[in-house]
Amino acid sequence: MIRAVRSVLRYGFELIERPFGRLFGPALNPLAQLGALGFFFFWIVTISGIYLFIFFDTGIERAYESVQYISQDQWFHAGVMRSLHRYAADLMVVMVATHLLRQFAYDQYRGVRWFSWFTGLPMIWLLYGSGITGYWLVWDKLAQYVAITTSELLDRLPIFGEPIARNFISTGTLTSRFFTLMVFMHIAVPLFLLFVMWVHILRISRPKINPPRMLAAISLLALIAVSLWKPALSQGHVDLAKAPVEVGLDWFYLPLYPLTDTWGKGGVWAFLGAFSLMIGLMPWLPPLRRARAAEVDLAHCNGCARCAEDCPYEAIRMVARTDGLPFPSQAQVNASLCTSCGICVGACPSSTPFRRSEELRTGIDLPDYNLKTLRERTIEAAKMLGGSNRALVFACEHGGARSLDGVVRLPCVAMAPPSLFDFVLSRDLADGVVIAGCAESACFNRLGIAWTRQRIAGTRDPYLRTRVPRERIAVVLGSALEARRVAAEIATFAEKLATFPRKILRSPRPTPSISSREERAPSQAGIAP
Ligand code: HEM
Ligand code: SF4
Ligand code: SF4
Repeated sequence: MIRAVRSVLRYGFELIERPFGRLFGPALNPLAQLGALGFFFFWIVTISGIYLFIFFDTGIERAYESVQYISQDQWFHAGVMRSLHRYAADLMVVMVATHLLRQFAYDQYRGVRWFSWFTGLPMIWLLYGSGITGYWLVWDKLAQYVAITTSELLDRLPIFGEPIARNFISTGTLTSRFFTLMVFMHIAVPLFLLFVMWVHILRISRPKINPPRMLAAISLLALIAVSLWKPALSQGHVDLAKAPVEVGLDWFYLPLYPLTDTWGKGGVWAFLGAFSLMIGLMPWLPPLRRARAAEVDLAHCNGCARCAEDCPYEAIRMVARTDGLPFPSQAQVNASLCTSCGICVGACPSSTPFRRSEELRTGIDLPDYNLKTLRERTIEAAKMLGGSNRALVFACEHGGARSLDGVVRLPCVAMAPPSLFDFVLSRDLADGVVIAGCAESACFNRLGIAWTRQRIAGTRDPYLRTRVPRERIAVVLGSALEARRVAAEIATFAEKLATFPRKILRSPRPTPSISSREERAPSQAGIAP
Protein backbone atom coordinates (compact mmCIF):
# COMPACT_ATOMS: atom_id res chain seq x y z
CA MET A 1 0.00 0.00 0.00
CA ILE A 2 2.72 2.50 1.06
CA ARG A 3 4.73 1.40 -1.95
CA ALA A 4 1.80 2.09 -4.29
CA VAL A 5 1.27 5.57 -2.83
CA ARG A 6 4.99 6.23 -3.19
CA SER A 7 4.98 5.17 -6.85
CA VAL A 8 1.97 7.35 -7.72
CA LEU A 9 3.54 10.34 -5.98
CA ARG A 10 6.85 9.73 -7.65
CA TYR A 11 5.21 9.56 -11.03
CA GLY A 12 3.53 12.89 -10.28
CA PHE A 13 6.80 14.53 -9.25
CA GLU A 14 8.61 13.26 -12.30
CA LEU A 15 5.87 14.44 -14.60
CA ILE A 16 6.46 17.99 -13.33
CA GLU A 17 10.23 17.74 -12.95
CA ARG A 18 11.14 16.28 -16.33
CA PRO A 19 10.15 19.27 -18.47
CA PHE A 20 11.73 21.62 -15.91
CA GLY A 21 14.96 19.65 -15.98
CA ARG A 22 14.99 19.47 -19.77
CA LEU A 23 14.28 23.18 -20.25
CA PHE A 24 16.35 24.75 -17.49
CA GLY A 25 18.63 22.01 -16.10
CA PRO A 26 18.62 20.70 -12.51
CA ALA A 27 19.99 23.97 -11.11
CA LEU A 28 16.78 25.84 -11.93
CA ASN A 29 14.45 23.02 -11.01
CA PRO A 30 12.94 24.22 -7.70
CA LEU A 31 11.82 20.69 -6.84
CA ALA A 32 15.46 19.58 -6.83
CA GLN A 33 16.38 22.45 -4.50
CA LEU A 34 13.62 22.33 -1.91
CA GLY A 35 15.81 22.11 1.20
CA ALA A 36 18.02 24.91 -0.06
CA LEU A 37 14.95 27.03 -0.86
CA GLY A 38 13.68 26.37 2.66
CA PHE A 39 16.86 27.89 4.07
CA PHE A 40 16.66 30.77 1.61
CA PHE A 41 13.07 31.64 2.58
CA PHE A 42 14.05 31.35 6.23
CA TRP A 43 16.75 33.99 5.73
CA ILE A 44 14.28 36.29 3.94
CA VAL A 45 11.84 35.91 6.82
CA THR A 46 14.63 36.61 9.33
CA ILE A 47 16.02 39.70 7.59
CA SER A 48 12.57 41.17 6.89
CA GLY A 49 11.57 40.36 10.49
CA ILE A 50 14.55 42.25 11.91
CA TYR A 51 13.68 45.21 9.66
CA LEU A 52 10.06 45.20 10.83
CA PHE A 53 11.16 45.07 14.43
CA ILE A 54 12.68 48.57 14.03
CA PHE A 55 9.16 49.96 13.49
CA PHE A 56 7.10 47.54 15.55
CA ASP A 57 5.82 48.60 18.96
CA THR A 58 5.88 45.57 21.24
CA GLY A 59 3.29 46.99 23.67
CA ILE A 60 -0.28 45.79 23.18
CA GLU A 61 -1.68 49.33 23.05
CA ARG A 62 0.46 50.53 20.16
CA ALA A 63 1.15 47.29 18.27
CA TYR A 64 -1.71 47.68 15.78
CA GLU A 65 -0.90 51.34 15.02
CA SER A 66 2.78 50.55 14.49
CA VAL A 67 1.87 47.83 11.97
CA GLN A 68 -0.50 50.26 10.20
CA TYR A 69 2.34 52.79 10.05
CA ILE A 70 4.53 50.11 8.44
CA SER A 71 1.94 49.18 5.82
CA GLN A 72 0.52 52.60 4.99
CA ASP A 73 2.96 55.41 5.78
CA GLN A 74 6.12 53.45 4.97
CA TRP A 75 4.62 51.03 2.42
CA PHE A 76 7.49 51.41 -0.09
CA HIS A 77 10.10 49.85 2.21
CA ALA A 78 8.72 48.63 5.54
CA GLY A 79 5.41 47.64 3.91
CA VAL A 80 7.23 45.64 1.26
CA MET A 81 9.27 44.03 4.04
CA ARG A 82 6.07 43.07 5.85
CA SER A 83 4.73 41.42 2.71
CA LEU A 84 8.05 39.68 2.08
CA HIS A 85 7.98 38.45 5.68
CA ARG A 86 4.54 36.97 5.23
CA TYR A 87 4.91 35.53 1.75
CA ALA A 88 8.34 33.99 2.37
CA ALA A 89 6.88 32.39 5.52
CA ASP A 90 4.00 31.03 3.42
CA LEU A 91 6.46 29.66 0.89
CA MET A 92 8.27 27.88 3.70
CA VAL A 93 5.09 25.92 4.37
CA VAL A 94 4.79 25.08 0.66
CA MET A 95 8.45 24.07 0.60
CA VAL A 96 8.19 21.88 3.72
CA ALA A 97 5.08 20.07 2.44
CA THR A 98 6.62 19.49 -1.00
CA HIS A 99 10.02 18.51 0.44
CA LEU A 100 8.39 15.98 2.77
CA LEU A 101 6.33 14.49 -0.05
CA ARG A 102 9.32 14.35 -2.38
CA GLN A 103 11.58 12.63 0.17
CA PHE A 104 8.78 10.12 0.63
CA ALA A 105 8.12 9.70 -3.10
CA TYR A 106 11.80 9.04 -3.85
CA ASP A 107 12.13 6.72 -0.84
CA GLN A 108 14.83 8.89 0.66
CA TYR A 109 13.62 8.74 4.24
CA ARG A 110 14.14 5.19 5.47
CA GLY A 111 17.22 3.39 6.77
CA VAL A 112 20.04 5.73 7.75
CA ARG A 113 17.99 8.66 6.49
CA TRP A 114 15.51 8.27 9.36
CA PHE A 115 17.42 10.96 11.24
CA SER A 116 16.74 13.76 8.75
CA TRP A 117 13.14 12.63 8.39
CA PHE A 118 12.54 12.37 12.12
CA THR A 119 14.04 15.80 12.86
CA GLY A 120 11.73 17.19 10.16
CA LEU A 121 8.75 16.53 12.45
CA PRO A 122 9.64 19.07 15.19
CA MET A 123 10.47 21.48 12.38
CA ILE A 124 6.88 21.34 11.15
CA TRP A 125 5.61 22.13 14.65
CA LEU A 126 8.13 24.92 15.12
CA LEU A 127 7.35 26.42 11.73
CA TYR A 128 3.65 26.53 12.59
CA GLY A 129 4.47 27.88 16.05
CA SER A 130 6.46 30.69 14.42
CA GLY A 131 3.69 31.56 11.96
CA ILE A 132 0.83 31.45 14.44
CA THR A 133 2.59 33.64 17.02
CA GLY A 134 3.37 36.05 14.16
CA TYR A 135 -0.30 36.52 13.30
CA TRP A 136 -0.96 37.30 16.92
CA LEU A 137 1.38 40.32 16.90
CA VAL A 138 -0.54 42.34 14.31
CA TRP A 139 -3.32 42.69 16.88
CA ASP A 140 -6.05 43.00 14.29
CA LYS A 141 -9.28 41.00 13.92
CA LEU A 142 -7.42 38.00 12.51
CA ALA A 143 -5.04 38.17 15.48
CA GLN A 144 -8.04 38.15 17.80
CA TYR A 145 -9.47 35.08 16.07
CA VAL A 146 -6.07 33.35 16.17
CA ALA A 147 -5.55 34.30 19.82
CA ILE A 148 -8.96 33.04 20.92
CA THR A 149 -8.88 29.82 18.91
CA THR A 150 -5.27 29.00 19.86
CA SER A 151 -6.04 29.62 23.52
CA GLU A 152 -9.13 27.45 23.37
CA LEU A 153 -7.08 24.72 21.74
CA LEU A 154 -4.42 25.01 24.44
CA ASP A 155 -7.10 24.99 27.12
CA ARG A 156 -8.16 21.58 25.82
CA LEU A 157 -4.78 20.25 26.98
CA PRO A 158 -4.13 19.70 30.68
CA ILE A 159 -1.24 22.23 30.74
CA PHE A 160 -2.59 25.44 32.20
CA GLY A 161 -4.38 25.57 35.54
CA GLU A 162 -6.54 28.54 34.50
CA PRO A 163 -8.27 28.66 31.10
CA ILE A 164 -6.23 31.18 29.08
CA ALA A 165 -8.95 31.80 26.47
CA ARG A 166 -10.73 33.92 29.07
CA ASN A 167 -7.96 36.49 28.60
CA PHE A 168 -9.39 37.35 25.21
CA ILE A 169 -13.07 37.30 25.95
CA SER A 170 -13.25 40.62 27.78
CA THR A 171 -11.05 43.70 27.85
CA GLY A 172 -10.86 43.80 31.61
CA THR A 173 -8.88 40.64 32.17
CA LEU A 174 -6.55 40.95 29.23
CA THR A 175 -2.96 41.27 30.24
CA SER A 176 -0.39 42.94 28.05
CA ARG A 177 2.13 40.60 29.64
CA PHE A 178 0.59 37.79 27.63
CA PHE A 179 1.09 39.82 24.47
CA THR A 180 4.74 40.41 25.39
CA LEU A 181 5.10 36.68 25.89
CA MET A 182 3.88 36.20 22.30
CA VAL A 183 6.44 38.72 21.03
CA PHE A 184 9.12 36.75 22.84
CA MET A 185 7.78 33.46 21.44
CA HIS A 186 7.76 34.85 17.91
CA ILE A 187 11.51 35.39 18.21
CA ALA A 188 12.44 32.35 20.30
CA VAL A 189 10.51 29.72 18.31
CA PRO A 190 12.12 30.57 14.92
CA LEU A 191 15.53 30.63 16.62
CA PHE A 192 14.89 27.15 17.90
CA LEU A 193 13.68 26.19 14.43
CA LEU A 194 17.00 27.35 13.03
CA PHE A 195 18.79 25.17 15.56
CA VAL A 196 16.74 22.11 14.53
CA MET A 197 17.37 22.95 10.85
CA TRP A 198 21.06 22.69 11.62
CA VAL A 199 20.55 19.35 13.41
CA HIS A 200 18.41 18.18 10.46
CA ILE A 201 21.37 18.23 8.07
CA LEU A 202 24.06 17.13 10.53
CA ARG A 203 24.28 13.65 9.06
CA ILE A 204 24.49 14.81 5.47
CA SER A 205 27.77 15.80 3.91
CA ARG A 206 27.77 18.93 1.77
CA PRO A 207 24.06 19.64 2.28
CA LYS A 208 22.59 22.00 -0.26
CA ILE A 209 21.61 24.93 1.94
CA ASN A 210 21.97 27.66 -0.69
CA PRO A 211 19.95 27.53 -3.90
CA PRO A 212 21.79 28.34 -7.14
CA ARG A 213 22.06 32.12 -7.52
CA MET A 214 19.73 32.35 -10.49
CA LEU A 215 17.00 30.40 -8.68
CA ALA A 216 17.46 32.56 -5.56
CA ALA A 217 17.25 35.76 -7.65
CA ILE A 218 14.10 34.59 -9.47
CA SER A 219 12.44 33.59 -6.17
CA LEU A 220 13.28 36.92 -4.54
CA LEU A 221 12.08 38.97 -7.52
CA ALA A 222 8.84 36.98 -7.64
CA LEU A 223 8.31 37.60 -3.92
CA ILE A 224 8.93 41.35 -4.32
CA ALA A 225 6.54 41.48 -7.29
CA VAL A 226 3.77 39.74 -5.30
CA SER A 227 4.47 42.01 -2.31
CA LEU A 228 3.93 45.11 -4.47
CA TRP A 229 0.93 43.66 -6.26
CA LYS A 230 -0.88 42.33 -3.21
CA PRO A 231 0.62 43.79 -0.04
CA ALA A 232 -0.03 42.06 3.27
CA LEU A 233 -2.52 44.21 5.21
CA SER A 234 -4.20 44.16 8.61
CA GLN A 235 -7.90 43.45 9.14
CA GLY A 236 -9.10 46.16 11.51
CA HIS A 237 -8.21 46.73 15.17
CA VAL A 238 -9.05 44.07 17.75
CA ASP A 239 -12.38 44.62 19.43
CA LEU A 240 -12.42 42.48 22.53
CA ALA A 241 -16.00 43.43 23.21
CA LYS A 242 -17.06 41.51 20.09
CA ALA A 243 -16.03 38.09 18.84
CA PRO A 244 -14.62 38.38 15.30
CA VAL A 245 -17.29 37.17 12.89
CA GLU A 246 -15.60 37.13 9.49
CA VAL A 247 -11.85 37.17 8.95
CA GLY A 248 -9.65 36.42 5.96
CA LEU A 249 -7.54 33.37 6.83
CA ASP A 250 -3.99 32.49 5.82
CA TRP A 251 -4.64 29.01 4.50
CA PHE A 252 -0.97 28.05 4.74
CA TYR A 253 -0.76 28.47 8.50
CA LEU A 254 -4.35 28.33 9.68
CA PRO A 255 -6.13 25.61 7.70
CA LEU A 256 -7.12 23.71 10.85
CA TYR A 257 -8.61 26.70 12.67
CA PRO A 258 -12.04 26.61 11.01
CA LEU A 259 -12.11 22.86 11.67
CA THR A 260 -12.23 23.49 15.42
CA ASP A 261 -15.92 24.34 14.86
CA THR A 262 -16.74 21.10 13.04
CA TRP A 263 -14.35 18.59 14.61
CA GLY A 264 -14.15 20.28 18.00
CA LYS A 265 -10.87 21.10 19.78
CA GLY A 266 -10.37 17.46 20.78
CA GLY A 267 -10.85 16.37 17.17
CA VAL A 268 -8.16 18.79 15.95
CA TRP A 269 -5.72 17.55 18.60
CA ALA A 270 -6.51 13.95 17.70
CA PHE A 271 -5.78 14.74 14.05
CA LEU A 272 -2.49 16.48 14.93
CA GLY A 273 -1.47 13.60 17.21
CA ALA A 274 -2.25 10.99 14.54
CA PHE A 275 -0.44 13.00 11.87
CA SER A 276 2.67 13.38 14.04
CA LEU A 277 2.65 9.72 15.02
CA MET A 278 2.36 8.65 11.40
CA ILE A 279 5.19 10.95 10.26
CA GLY A 280 7.34 9.85 13.21
CA LEU A 281 6.90 6.15 12.43
CA MET A 282 7.16 6.32 8.66
CA PRO A 283 10.88 5.53 8.34
CA TRP A 284 10.12 2.12 9.86
CA LEU A 285 6.97 1.35 7.84
CA PRO A 286 8.43 -0.98 6.72
CA PRO A 287 12.09 -0.63 7.73
CA LEU A 288 14.63 -0.55 4.92
CA ARG A 289 16.63 -3.74 4.54
CA ARG A 290 20.12 -2.71 3.62
CA ALA A 291 23.39 -4.43 2.88
CA ARG A 292 26.20 -4.49 5.44
CA ALA A 293 28.19 -1.30 5.96
CA ALA A 294 31.46 -0.56 4.16
CA GLU A 295 34.61 -1.95 5.80
CA VAL A 296 38.16 -0.61 5.76
CA ASP A 297 41.08 -2.88 4.95
CA LEU A 298 44.06 -1.18 6.54
CA ALA A 299 46.58 -3.13 4.47
CA HIS A 300 45.28 -1.22 1.45
CA CYS A 301 44.47 2.16 3.04
CA ASN A 302 47.03 4.96 2.71
CA GLY A 303 44.93 7.50 4.62
CA CYS A 304 44.33 9.74 1.59
CA ALA A 305 40.82 10.67 2.89
CA ARG A 306 39.18 10.55 -0.53
CA CYS A 307 36.55 8.13 0.74
CA ALA A 308 35.71 10.49 3.62
CA GLU A 309 35.41 13.40 1.20
CA ASP A 310 33.12 11.55 -1.18
CA CYS A 311 30.83 9.81 1.32
CA PRO A 312 27.43 11.55 1.12
CA TYR A 313 26.50 10.59 4.68
CA GLU A 314 29.40 11.61 6.88
CA ALA A 315 29.90 7.92 7.61
CA ILE A 316 33.71 8.00 7.33
CA ARG A 317 36.12 9.71 9.69
CA MET A 318 39.87 9.91 9.38
CA VAL A 319 41.52 8.75 12.61
CA ALA A 320 45.09 8.22 13.81
CA ARG A 321 46.83 5.20 12.33
CA THR A 322 46.58 2.05 14.38
CA ASP A 323 48.60 -0.50 12.39
CA GLY A 324 52.06 1.03 12.31
CA LEU A 325 52.10 1.65 8.53
CA PRO A 326 53.89 4.94 7.71
CA PHE A 327 50.74 6.99 7.05
CA PRO A 328 49.38 9.59 9.47
CA SER A 329 45.76 8.48 9.33
CA GLN A 330 43.34 5.78 8.33
CA ALA A 331 39.67 5.67 7.37
CA GLN A 332 37.10 4.56 9.91
CA VAL A 333 33.47 3.78 9.02
CA ASN A 334 30.58 4.49 11.35
CA ALA A 335 28.33 1.57 10.38
CA SER A 336 25.20 3.23 11.78
CA LEU A 337 25.55 6.07 9.23
CA CYS A 338 26.51 3.99 6.21
CA THR A 339 23.91 3.44 3.45
CA SER A 340 26.15 0.88 1.65
CA CYS A 341 26.10 3.02 -1.49
CA GLY A 342 29.67 2.03 -2.40
CA ILE A 343 30.71 5.57 -3.40
CA CYS A 344 33.75 5.25 -1.14
CA VAL A 345 34.85 2.13 -3.05
CA GLY A 346 34.87 4.16 -6.26
CA ALA A 347 36.82 6.93 -4.52
CA CYS A 348 39.60 4.78 -3.10
CA PRO A 349 42.89 4.88 -5.04
CA SER A 350 43.44 1.22 -4.17
CA SER A 351 40.31 0.22 -6.07
CA THR A 352 41.96 -0.82 -9.27
CA PRO A 353 40.75 -3.81 -11.25
CA PHE A 354 44.12 -3.99 -13.05
CA ARG A 355 45.66 -5.77 -10.09
CA ARG A 356 46.80 -9.20 -11.01
CA SER A 357 46.23 -10.72 -7.61
CA GLU A 358 43.41 -13.26 -7.46
CA GLU A 359 42.15 -11.83 -4.22
CA LEU A 360 41.40 -8.31 -5.42
CA ARG A 361 41.38 -6.14 -2.31
CA THR A 362 40.97 -2.41 -1.79
CA GLY A 363 41.17 0.13 1.05
CA ILE A 364 37.41 0.23 1.61
CA ASP A 365 34.87 -2.23 0.31
CA LEU A 366 31.29 -3.44 0.62
CA PRO A 367 31.20 -6.88 2.28
CA ASP A 368 28.05 -7.88 0.34
CA TYR A 369 29.22 -6.63 -3.05
CA ASN A 370 32.94 -6.13 -3.13
CA LEU A 371 35.25 -4.85 -5.84
CA LYS A 372 36.32 -8.36 -6.76
CA THR A 373 32.70 -9.33 -7.43
CA LEU A 374 32.25 -6.13 -9.41
CA ARG A 375 35.22 -7.00 -11.59
CA GLU A 376 33.92 -10.56 -12.07
CA ARG A 377 30.46 -9.34 -13.01
CA THR A 378 32.00 -6.83 -15.41
CA ILE A 379 33.98 -9.55 -17.17
CA GLU A 380 30.92 -11.85 -17.26
CA ALA A 381 28.67 -9.14 -18.67
CA ALA A 382 31.30 -8.24 -21.28
CA LYS A 383 31.47 -11.85 -22.45
CA MET A 384 27.77 -11.68 -23.36
CA LEU A 385 28.34 -8.76 -25.73
CA GLY A 386 28.91 -9.33 -29.44
CA GLY A 387 29.46 -7.40 -32.66
CA SER A 388 31.38 -4.20 -33.21
CA ASN A 389 29.18 -2.03 -31.03
CA ARG A 390 29.60 -3.68 -27.68
CA ALA A 391 28.35 -1.22 -25.07
CA LEU A 392 28.86 -2.36 -21.50
CA VAL A 393 26.34 -0.75 -19.16
CA PHE A 394 27.02 0.04 -15.50
CA ALA A 395 23.56 0.67 -14.12
CA CYS A 396 22.54 2.26 -10.84
CA GLU A 397 20.00 0.00 -9.15
CA HIS A 398 17.70 3.01 -8.71
CA GLY A 399 17.92 4.30 -12.28
CA GLY A 400 16.24 3.68 -15.62
CA ALA A 401 18.66 0.98 -16.82
CA ARG A 402 18.36 -1.25 -13.76
CA SER A 403 16.07 -3.78 -15.44
CA LEU A 404 17.84 -4.01 -18.77
CA ASP A 405 19.42 -7.34 -19.67
CA GLY A 406 23.17 -7.78 -19.41
CA VAL A 407 23.91 -4.67 -17.34
CA VAL A 408 26.27 -4.57 -14.36
CA ARG A 409 24.09 -3.33 -11.52
CA LEU A 410 25.53 -1.18 -8.76
CA PRO A 411 24.08 0.46 -5.64
CA CYS A 412 25.34 3.73 -7.15
CA VAL A 413 27.24 4.42 -10.38
CA ALA A 414 29.92 6.17 -8.34
CA MET A 415 30.82 2.81 -6.81
CA ALA A 416 32.64 2.00 -10.05
CA PRO A 417 36.16 3.46 -9.86
CA PRO A 418 37.18 5.25 -13.09
CA SER A 419 39.94 2.65 -13.48
CA LEU A 420 37.18 0.08 -14.08
CA PHE A 421 36.08 1.94 -17.24
CA ASP A 422 39.73 2.11 -18.27
CA PHE A 423 40.01 -1.63 -17.59
CA VAL A 424 36.97 -2.43 -19.78
CA LEU A 425 38.23 -0.40 -22.74
CA SER A 426 41.94 -1.14 -22.51
CA ARG A 427 41.32 -4.90 -22.17
CA ASP A 428 38.94 -4.66 -25.13
CA LEU A 429 36.14 -6.15 -23.06
CA ALA A 430 33.76 -3.74 -24.82
CA ASP A 431 33.82 -0.98 -27.43
CA GLY A 432 32.17 1.52 -25.14
CA VAL A 433 31.00 2.05 -21.58
CA VAL A 434 27.64 3.44 -20.52
CA ILE A 435 27.25 4.84 -17.04
CA ALA A 436 23.51 4.78 -16.42
CA GLY A 437 22.52 6.68 -13.30
CA CYS A 438 19.34 8.07 -11.75
CA ALA A 439 17.69 11.23 -13.04
CA GLU A 440 20.06 14.19 -12.79
CA SER A 441 17.93 16.07 -10.26
CA ALA A 442 17.26 13.02 -8.11
CA CYS A 443 20.44 11.05 -7.52
CA PHE A 444 19.37 8.46 -4.94
CA ASN A 445 22.73 8.71 -3.19
CA ARG A 446 22.80 12.50 -3.45
CA LEU A 447 26.31 12.93 -4.83
CA GLY A 448 26.89 9.83 -6.97
CA ILE A 449 26.19 11.48 -10.33
CA ALA A 450 28.14 14.63 -9.49
CA TRP A 451 31.22 12.67 -8.39
CA THR A 452 31.06 10.38 -11.44
CA ARG A 453 30.92 13.33 -13.83
CA GLN A 454 33.81 15.05 -12.07
CA ARG A 455 35.98 11.94 -12.06
CA ILE A 456 35.46 11.49 -15.79
CA ALA A 457 36.07 15.18 -16.46
CA GLY A 458 39.32 14.92 -14.51
CA THR A 459 38.31 17.44 -11.86
CA ARG A 460 37.96 15.01 -8.98
CA ASP A 461 40.21 12.29 -7.69
CA PRO A 462 40.44 9.51 -8.71
CA TYR A 463 40.53 10.77 -12.29
CA LEU A 464 39.75 8.77 -15.36
CA ARG A 465 43.09 8.64 -17.14
CA THR A 466 43.43 11.04 -20.07
CA ARG A 467 44.36 8.20 -22.41
CA VAL A 468 40.84 6.74 -22.12
CA PRO A 469 38.85 7.88 -25.19
CA ARG A 470 35.98 9.94 -23.80
CA GLU A 471 33.85 9.40 -26.90
CA ARG A 472 33.63 5.76 -25.87
CA ILE A 473 32.07 6.66 -22.54
CA ALA A 474 28.47 7.85 -22.22
CA VAL A 475 26.62 9.04 -19.16
CA VAL A 476 22.91 8.29 -19.55
CA LEU A 477 20.65 9.55 -16.79
CA GLY A 478 17.03 8.73 -16.17
CA SER A 479 14.76 7.47 -13.42
CA ALA A 480 13.26 3.99 -13.17
CA LEU A 481 10.14 5.45 -14.78
CA GLU A 482 12.12 6.51 -17.84
CA ALA A 483 13.40 3.04 -18.71
CA ARG A 484 12.29 3.27 -22.34
CA ARG A 485 14.11 6.54 -23.06
CA VAL A 486 17.22 5.30 -21.24
CA ALA A 487 17.23 2.08 -23.30
CA ALA A 488 16.85 4.11 -26.50
CA GLU A 489 19.76 6.40 -25.60
CA ILE A 490 21.96 3.41 -24.81
CA ALA A 491 21.03 1.83 -28.16
CA THR A 492 21.87 5.07 -30.02
CA PHE A 493 25.27 5.22 -28.29
CA ALA A 494 25.92 1.57 -29.15
CA GLU A 495 25.14 2.24 -32.84
CA LYS A 496 27.56 5.15 -32.83
CA LEU A 497 30.32 2.90 -31.44
CA ALA A 498 30.37 0.83 -34.64
CA THR A 499 31.44 3.94 -36.57
CA PHE A 500 34.52 4.60 -34.40
CA PRO A 501 37.92 3.34 -35.57
CA ARG A 502 39.02 0.36 -33.53
CA LYS A 503 41.74 1.37 -31.15
CA ILE A 504 42.88 -0.96 -28.41
CA LEU A 505 44.56 0.70 -25.49
CA ARG A 506 47.66 -0.71 -23.92
CA SER A 507 46.97 -2.07 -20.43
CA PRO A 508 48.79 -0.33 -17.62
CA ARG A 509 51.30 -2.21 -15.51
CA PRO A 510 49.44 -4.46 -13.02
CA THR A 511 49.49 -3.48 -9.36
CA PRO A 512 49.47 -6.02 -6.55
CA SER A 513 49.03 -4.10 -3.29
CA ILE A 514 49.32 -0.73 -1.63
CA SER A 515 51.31 -2.16 1.28
CA SER A 516 54.36 -2.05 -0.94
CA ARG A 517 53.80 1.56 -1.89
CA GLU A 518 55.46 1.83 -5.28
CA GLU A 519 53.10 -0.76 -6.64
CA ARG A 520 50.09 1.45 -7.23
CA ALA A 521 48.42 1.55 -10.64
CA PRO A 522 49.30 4.50 -12.87
CA SER A 523 45.88 6.06 -12.25
CA GLN A 524 46.85 6.44 -8.60
CA ALA A 525 50.26 7.89 -9.18
CA GLY A 526 51.19 10.89 -7.13
CA ILE A 527 49.04 10.17 -4.07
CA ALA A 528 50.77 11.57 -1.05
CA PRO A 529 51.07 9.08 1.79
C1 HEM B 1 12.24 24.14 7.54
C2 HEM B 1 12.07 23.00 6.97
C3 HEM B 1 13.13 22.18 6.28
C4 HEM B 1 14.31 22.58 5.72
C5 HEM B 1 14.85 23.98 5.61
C6 HEM B 1 14.95 21.39 5.24
C7 HEM B 1 16.17 21.38 4.60
C8 HEM B 1 16.82 20.26 4.17
C9 HEM B 1 18.10 20.24 3.50
C10 HEM B 1 18.92 21.47 3.14
C11 HEM B 1 18.41 18.95 3.25
C12 HEM B 1 19.67 18.43 2.54
C13 HEM B 1 19.35 18.23 1.10
C14 HEM B 1 20.54 17.72 0.34
O1 HEM B 1 21.55 18.41 0.28
O2 HEM B 1 20.46 16.61 -0.20
C15 HEM B 1 17.36 18.14 3.77
C16 HEM B 1 17.32 16.77 3.73
C17 HEM B 1 16.27 16.00 4.18
N1 HEM B 1 15.08 16.44 4.68
FE1 HEM B 1 14.62 18.36 5.07
N2 HEM B 1 14.17 20.31 5.51
C18 HEM B 1 13.04 20.75 6.15
C19 HEM B 1 11.98 19.99 6.58
C20 HEM B 1 11.88 18.63 6.43
C21 HEM B 1 10.75 17.83 6.81
C22 HEM B 1 9.49 18.38 7.43
C23 HEM B 1 11.04 16.54 6.49
C24 HEM B 1 10.21 15.31 6.68
C25 HEM B 1 9.52 15.05 7.74
C26 HEM B 1 12.36 16.52 5.92
C27 HEM B 1 13.02 15.39 5.49
C28 HEM B 1 14.30 15.35 4.98
C29 HEM B 1 15.03 14.15 4.66
C30 HEM B 1 14.55 12.71 4.86
C31 HEM B 1 16.27 14.55 4.18
C32 HEM B 1 17.43 13.63 3.82
C33 HEM B 1 17.63 13.53 2.34
C34 HEM B 1 18.67 12.50 2.01
O3 HEM B 1 19.14 11.79 2.89
O4 HEM B 1 18.98 12.42 0.84
N3 HEM B 1 12.84 17.80 5.89
N4 HEM B 1 16.39 18.96 4.32
S1 SF4 C 1 29.13 2.91 1.38
FE1 SF4 C 1 28.39 5.01 0.99
S2 SF4 C 1 27.54 5.70 2.96
FE2 SF4 C 1 28.83 3.88 3.38
S3 SF4 C 1 30.81 4.72 3.94
FE3 SF4 C 1 30.87 4.29 1.74
S4 SF4 C 1 30.26 6.23 0.75
FE4 SF4 C 1 29.68 6.38 2.92
S1 SF4 D 1 43.13 4.73 0.83
FE1 SF4 D 1 41.00 4.26 0.41
S2 SF4 D 1 40.13 3.67 2.39
FE2 SF4 D 1 42.08 4.70 2.80
S3 SF4 D 1 41.53 6.85 3.16
FE3 SF4 D 1 42.05 6.68 0.98
S4 SF4 D 1 40.09 6.29 -0.02
FE4 SF4 D 1 39.78 5.88 2.16
